[in-house]
Amino acid sequence: MLRAAGISAGYGGRMIVEDVTIDVAAGEIVALLGHNGAGKSTLLRALFGLLKRTGALTLEGRSLDGLAPRLILAGGLAYVPQERSVFPKLTVAENLRMGAYALDDESVVERRIDAALETFPRLRERLRQLAGTLSGGEQRMLEVARTLLLDPRAIMLDEPSIGLAPKMADTLFATIRALAAQGRAVLLVEQSVKKALACADRAVVMEMGRIVLTDSARALAADDRVAKLYMGAAGRGAARPPA
Ligand SMILES: Nc1ncnc2c1ncn2[C@@H]1O[C@H](COP(=O)(O)OP(=O)(O)OP(=O)(O)O)[C@@H](O)[C@H]1O
Ligand SMILES: [Mg+2]
Repeated sequence: MLRAAGISAGYGGRMIVEDVTIDVAAGEIVALLGHNGAGKSTLLRALFGLLKRTGALTLEGRSLDGLAPRLILAGGLAYVPQERSVFPKLTVAENLRMGAYALDDESVVERRIDAALETFPRLRERLRQLAGTLSGGEQRMLEVARTLLLDPRAIMLDEPSIGLAPKMADTLFATIRALAAQGRAVLLVEQSVKKALACADRAVVMEMGRIVLTDSARALAADDRVAKLYMGAAGRGAARPPA
């Protein structure tokens, strides 16, 4: 459903991401793994139209090449950046409305906000709270909830669990699985390889801007190369799927 083919991108003429090809099917979660500085965030920024890139990006067969971010979003691809992106001086309710800016049917807006709050009940209790005063985890949830208002077909999440307590991270990963179960394609960048492989169906490993390994999450969780590079000896057994 989401297909990025031969993507290259960088900053000021310096190439960071080179010839990356990733496919994400409807209902599938693909984890994008790699060390700090591998180019994961750069790839997502480039796909969302925030950076110049080459290569081809299609969603359900329609090209998203050369479009500005707001048109990519309108085209069905949503993005939650690694850095915080709530409007801190606006309330939770106002932040959610910002996510629905492109909709003019008020009944649709209300239905979508209600559906998002159904997914994130914690936010419903805090609708009138200023977003800047939410906890880090609650802000993350608001960011994800906000991207759902345009009912995206595909979602790219850049380290959604960063700074979250384990319980809250688990809730978020369960939510991400639920979003995929609704038929959306999810591309997930996640620092915790263990968590990523537990959540995703498939994973790709990026090193120095290139994809060096791609396989099912289950196979990668049992792969010595991944264990050595990213989990340390102790992490391995824990990440292995139950027999
Ligand atoms: N705005 C920028 N201008 C110049 N170089 C940048 C810029 N942003 C990132 N880079 C460089 O691009 C490379 C890839 O960075 P990127 O943020 O994509 O990595 P990442 O895989 O997301 O890492 P992390 O896991 O730390 O988030 C790094 O060497 C970084 O210093
Ligand atoms: Mg990053």
